[in-house]
Amino acid sequence: MISSNDLQQAMAKFATGVTVIGSLETNGTVHGMTANALTSVSLEPPMVLVCIARDNVSYSNIAQRGRFGISVLKAQQEGAAQYYGRDRWERVGDVAVEWQLKEGGSPRIKDSLMFLECRVVARHDHGDHGIFVAEVEETATELGQPLIFYDSQFRDMGNAK
Ligand SMILES: Cc1cc2nc3c(=O)[nH]c(=O)nc-3n(C[C@H](O)[C@H](O)[C@H](O)COP(=O)(O)O)c2cc1C
Repeated sequence: MISSNDLQQAMAKFATGVTVIGSLETNGTVHGMTANALTSVSLEPPMVLVCIARDNVSYSNIAQRGRFGISVLKAQQEGAAQYYGRDRWERVGDVAVEWQLKEGGSPRIKDSLMFLECRVVARHDHGDHGIFVAEVEETATELGQPLIFYDSQFRDMGNAK
């Protein structure tokens, strides 16, 4: 059997965009988590899935509230990706991120390239992660260039056309 490190190294060759998943804690505090495991699932009805480690704060927030927001980051929002990609106790210093709370209770990072407001319809736990399947209740897009994650590094689109 391969190791988790083998899979991480292999998946590093799969270039993705970068999101921050926003959820609410029981006391109403907004919590962010950098994630690239986002896939669209269905168009009718509109559904996506995200995969979240089961010991993450975000996993319990979303399991409890049944709602979350997905903010896809612009290239210049790398600071948010770095900050929310660390465990809570390693999030030192401030990050220049402004959150907006949507009516349904899904937090969005202001000025993100794209936003999905999500309501959980199913959860499937496999291994150390949980798959949250969610219906998308609202979308928003802006002009801009995406932040890319490839070979374990944040990048921009370079000269891509
Ligand atoms: C580029 C990048 C992508 C990530 N993608 C995921 C992901 O899809 N799912 C996940 O559970 N953690 C992912 N992580 C790790 C979490 O962001 C990190 O463990 C987080 O601080 C823990 O979440 P929590 O604050 O909810 O406990 C990613 C980290 C980075 C830097």
